[in-house]
Amino acid sequence: MPPSSPKPMRWRPARERPLVERGGPPRRKRTRRPPAIILRDVSKTYGLGQIQVRALRNVTLQIARGDFVAIMGSSGSGKSTLMNILGCLDLPTGGRYLIDGVDMRDLDEDDLADLRNRKIGFVFQSFNLVARTSALANVELPLAYAGVDRQTRRQRAKEALAAVGMAQRWHHQPSELSGGQQQRVAVARALVTNPTMILADEPTGNLDSRSTEEVLRIFAGLNQEGRTVVLITHEPDVAAQAKRVITLGDGRVIDDRRTAGVHDQPALPHHQKSAHHLYGESHR
Ligand SMILES: Nc1ncnc2c1ncn2[C@@H]1O[C@H](COP(=O)(O)OP(=O)(O)OP(=O)(O)O)[C@@H](O)[C@H]1O
Ligand SMILES: [Mg+2]
Repeated sequence: MPPSSPKPMRWRPARERPLVERGGPPRRKRTRRPPAIILRDVSKTYGLGQIQVRALRNVTLQIARGDFVAIMGSSGSGKSTLMNILGCLDLPTGGRYLIDGVDMRDLDEDDLADLRNRKIGFVFQSFNLVARTSALANVELPLAYAGVDRQTRRQRAKEALAAVGMAQRWHHQPSELSGGQQQRVAVARALVTNPTMILADEPTGNLDSRSTEEVLRIFAGLNQEGRTVVLITHEPDVAAQAKRVITLGDGRVIDDRRTAGVHDQPALPHHQKSAHHLYGESHR
């Protein structure tokens, strides 16, 4: 009798883990990274003389990495004050502020400036570009402060301008650009250092609806890349692009709503008309 042929082995993918969990060394817990931003009981009082303005009163909040947060509230409610503290442009008069788990109180001026340069990109309502200076030189500026060599600076500034659709206009001065184009250059300047966090104070406040949409698209893209975006706005249509909306009133958080998950795809701006249709006028 011929020897029986060996049974063919059936190939099976290796099981990723045993069917029955056996005792053994405990799995290492995934180390949790701290939130991008922690504010604990933060207050800011201006004018420590006779007349004091309490611009922020015991604000406590956390912002996760990769979140897209809109900050709303009436004029004088403390939004810019909060933004200045978030961006380390100003220090709170009380409470604690931690970025990526590091307490700002533990840093000296040089460390703060370094952190600002490396981690934070700012965008302002009034663009704040240097006049009579090309778009390219404006975008290069933060890299010059950071001591990056000229050739690398040029290269990275050009890439940042390309990312906001302004590659063709690199040689234009601010006065030769529309408001929307100037703001896109300002966004390029904010992202050229590859910051993990973008802070924007009314970035669309001076823009028409089309430029607003373009700038919001860029913010959505930056957020999709995993950057944390915090944006101050008066406009409900703009706030509707965010995943979370925090409202300040008289220096306090009076409302905090999440409209999408931190890791969800950021919403893309609709044309203003459809946004009005979607979100109604009641928010105004
Ligand atoms: N440097 C300052 N010195 C004194 N008071 C200030 C200073 N900056 C802001 N304030 C006051 O603090 C409060 C909050 O101002 P903040 O600029 O944060 O408001 P905001 O919400 O950004 O307002 P807006 O929507 O008008 O920009 C206001 O009462 C303002 O007058
Ligand atoms: Mg303001």
